[in-house]
Amino acid sequence: MVAKTLIIGACGQIGTELTEKLRAEKGKENVIASDIREGSKLLMKSGPFEILDATNYDALEDVIVHYNIDEVYLMAAMLSGTAEKFPMKAWDLNMTTLFNALNLAKDGKISKLFWPSSIAVFGPTTPKENTPQQTIMEPSTVYGISKQTGERWCEYYHKRYGVDVRSIRYPGLISYKTAPGGGTTDYAIEIFHDALKESYYQSFLSQETALPMMYMDDAIKATIQLMKTDHTKIKIRSSYNLGGISFTPKELAKAINKRIPQFEIDYEPDFRQAIADSWPSSIDDTNAQEDWDWKHEFDLETMVDAMIEGIKAAKK
Ligand SMILES: NC(=O)c1ccc[n+]([C@@H]2O[C@H](COP(=O)([O-])OP(=O)(O)OC[C@H]3O[C@@H](n4cnc5c(N)ncnc54)[C@H](O)[C@@H]3O)[C@@H](O)[C@H]2O)c1
Repeated sequence: MVAKTLIIGACGQIGTELTEKLRAEKGKENVIASDIREGSKLLMKSGPFEILDATNYDALEDVIVHYNIDEVYLMAAMLSGTAEKFPMKAWDLNMTTLFNALNLAKDGKISKLFWPSSIAVFGPTTPKENTPQQTIMEPSTVYGISKQTGERWCEYYHKRYGVDVRSIRYPGLISYKTAPGGGTTDYAIEIFHDALKESYYQSFLSQETALPMMYMDDAIKATIQLMKTDHTKIKIRSSYNLGGISFTPKELAKAINKRIPQFEIDYEPDFRQAIADSWPSSIDDTNAQEDWDWKHEFDLETMVDAMIEGIKAAKK
């Protein structure tokens, strides 16, 4: 039987597009999508799907054994904005799912694991510009604490048990196919939908808040590229910095204005401003470039074009 891939949290913002891409590459029968809930119609029709609560070790093991799973992408988590509302729930979900996957890898039930970290591992004491791979990390959100702890455990499981776990510190990801999952960078997605619907957006971050961002196609490309890289080239087993684009709400609004001249924006920062203020403005991803030839494609202008065209086409 062919070894298969399992995506956990496949109905989310990243999982939906990752499933689509991996199914196109590996064949739909070889990529099993799973989540605690059903996803988009397209995803549900596109190949095998299991309802699975990844905090349940036995249920996860059953799916892995049943489908002869070799490789797991663990996308289930509670994101930064929502996690601040439910700190203990977020900690429990983010850590239990990671330990379940790491322990299945340690016991030889799977041979490779992808687990995403985030720029949220950094904190207010981290150098903000061009944040290096190794630097001060004092995250101040429960989400960031869970990601930083997760990184330490990934490295530990690799060193101590030889687990082949790979990870990327995603910046804010911008896409239109699925609604964002409650993160602090969600404004950069909502703004496009509101601009096209009512030519107006009220931003929950202030106009000068620069954050590292990336168009989803680049993030999916990086994820699959890292998983395909020969294990000898992967020098970092905590999580790789990944750069992309850095811009403020004001700069994004200006780029949208060029395409939608009547578009207007107001700024009404909420609790997410404090989260954004604790994160870097831009990221140095030299290690990813050197170790596995990473290079992003989308800049601010091409990303804005892709978002506007994508949302318009999806509405037709
Ligand atoms: N989207 C971003 O901008 C971004 C940035 C940095 C890191 N990340 C990380 O990438 C991963 C995926 O993010 P996303 O944006 O797709 O999140 P999302 O919230 O859109 O999707 C997460 C999915 O996990 C599912 N899920 C929740 N609890 C589950 C459980 N117990 N068992 C199985 N599935 C469960 C949810 O139903 C949801 O479909 C997360 O680890 C997140 O922290 C995302």
